[in-house]
Amino acid sequence: MQVIDKLTKENLDIVKEEIKNNNLVIFPTETVYGIGANALSSLAVSKIFEVKTRARNNPLIVHLKDKKEIEKYAIIENEIEKKLIDTFMPGPLTLILKKKEIIPDVVTANLDTVGIRIPSNPIAHEFLDYIDYPIAAPSANISSRPSGTKVEDIKMEFDNLVNYIIDGGESKIGLESTVVKVINEVPTILRPGYVTKEDIIKTIGVCEVSPHVLKEVDKNTKVESPGMLYKHYAPKTKCLLLYSNNIDKLKELIEKNKTEKTIILGSKKLEKISCYKFINYGDTLEEISHNLFSLLRKCDTYYADLIIIEGVKKEGLGLAIMNRLIRTSSFNYQEL
Ligand code: TXA
Ligand code: MG
Repeated sequence: MQVIDKLTKENLDIVKEEIKNNNLVIFPTETVYGIGANALSSLAVSKIFEVKTRARNNPLIVHLKDKKEIEKYAIIENEIEKKLIDTFMPGPLTLILKKKEIIPDVVTANLDTVGIRIPSNPIAHEFLDYIDYPIAAPSANISSRPSGTKVEDIKMEFDNLVNYIIDGGESKIGLESTVVKVINEVPTILRPGYVTKEDIIKTIGVCEVSPHVLKEVDKNTKVESPGMLYKHYAPKTKCLLLYSNNIDKLKELIEKNKTEKTIILGSKKLEKISCYKFINYGDTLEEISHNLFSLLRKCDTYYADLIIIEGVKKEGLGLAIMNRLIRTSSFNYQEL
């Protein structure tokens, strides 16, 4: 894999040619890195599913350079969708819209809707603008692993599988976009992210959160977002997620559950607890979101027998963090 660290005209021509030839290019966004392919080519999009070993019934998001492009690929059916677009795009929001025929079925896993996202990251924008194709892109990670937020992490997974990665430094937000669908005139969050329920209520007045966001979903359940069915964001080491808003109770829970080789992944207030290794994941929700996926990968390098992860309050960005952590720990979760 070749790392492109500057988008010179010459490099832009290289990635444009790569996309045109139905190959994949990894690019940065403000949320996480994406593995991109020409969204209008079934052949190119199939390669994404292959390199990620991703289930074919889990649809991909289509990335566009600006709002004017949306109606080439999707139908904006009501004022609420229009307002969400006006307020939150470009930015870390994916809106599920009725798809137009031009989008191949392999992108949307045969659904009649398509996820549309316009990243705000300037490098992503420059890439999308120059190549001038809509880009289907999932997060840059092998399925079930933490999403890629750093070039070195991604290189380890895809070195021989993808030819080019555009380096944009560490992903600013670190968690994937908020996925929203307007259902019966109510914006409904299918996957929480940096754009919060509270943010959407401020502009639209209402917002629901899918009940599957914090729950384990049975394979036979009909879900709005197929991504909820799968194992996600997991390091190889076993994880246990613990939460209490009372620090003494949290410490008590940790003492009760820790093993001989436990990593504690949490905020500074836990650093004095004796354990195999303490890793500070940050002390604000923004820091935790930014650091989380890369630190989960790092945890695997210590060969611990357990990672105890400190949970956060499920509010604001905390809901997105808990949605990922609950899946990271395979629903191995205790709250006191
Ligand atoms: O921030 C992000 O969204 C990143 C960057 C690269 O843009 N992308 C990303 O893609 O996270 P991915 O494929 O890892 O997650 C997409 C999620 C999945 O849970 C998928 O099921 C859901 O969006 N999704 C995509 N299209 C959908 C649709 N038409 N209806 C319902 N859910 C959809
Ligand atoms: Mg993903």
